[in-house]
Amino acid sequence: MEGTSTDNYAPVKSALPWAIGIQNFFLRRVRHSVLDMLQRIGARTVLDVCSGGGALAYMIQQRGMSVQAVDGSPTMAEYSRSQYGIIPKVARAEALPYHQQFDAAVIGMTLHELGEEQREQVWQRVEDAVKNTGIIIAVDYTVPPPSVINNMLSKLTTLDESNFDTVNPGHYQDYQRFMAAGGLVPWLQKRKGYFYDERTHLFGNIAVVAVMK
Ligand SMILES: C[S@@+](CC[C@H](N)C(=O)[O-])C[C@H]1O[C@@H](n2cnc3c(N)ncnc32)[C@H](O)[C@@H]1O
Repeated sequence: MEGTSTDNYAPVKSALPWAIGIQNFFLRRVRHSVLDMLQRIGARTVLDVCSGGGALAYMIQQRGMSVQAVDGSPTMAEYSRSQYGIIPKVARAEALPYHQQFDAAVIGMTLHELGEEQREQVWQRVEDAVKNTGIIIAVDYTVPPPSVINNMLSKLTTLDESNFDTVNPGHYQDYQRFMAAGGLVPWLQKRKGYFYDERTHLFGNIAVVAVMK
């Protein structure tokens, strides 16, 4: 693998089909928004950064686009290969080896689990990987409008993220800091990128934002 790290998912390999199945169910509509945005901009080549189980990369491919998946976990990469025939490059997102190669890049449900500095570093590498006319689509938690349902959802998400800390130590603190600052939308606004498209899902808890490079 390019860059170094331990494979956080190796010890929980047997739980992956179950965990990824749940995630696929909840993120179905979210992923359709990503596909619609990619098609709207006419993307033909797409980089899926931190591609996880491979479902989104597979859906992108099914829509006729060429996709390169990248993930830091060999266990996730193997899952993606065996379930979807998507073979990710196993590499750290901080060390993506691409330069102005793709029409678009997607980074889904990962920015929240990175430290502030690491998140900046990854974003810069993703920006570097897309063409100058390119688009980056980020999918992640964002703070929703207050409501009873969102209060409940926020408790569930927090519980889920805190459980995940055993797989990826430090994850929960990074998630908490990310959410305390408002989540995805304010983080992107702070970077002053131009929002080409924006949608929210799950009562406003997950945002899909297409940003011009
Ligand atoms: C929560 S999963 C999200 C997967 C997928 N993008 C989705 O939306 O379903 C996070 C993925 O990011 C990968 N990941 C986390 N930090 C990474 C890094 N710094 N470099 C490469 N991959 C990373 C993990 O291995 C994991 O597969």
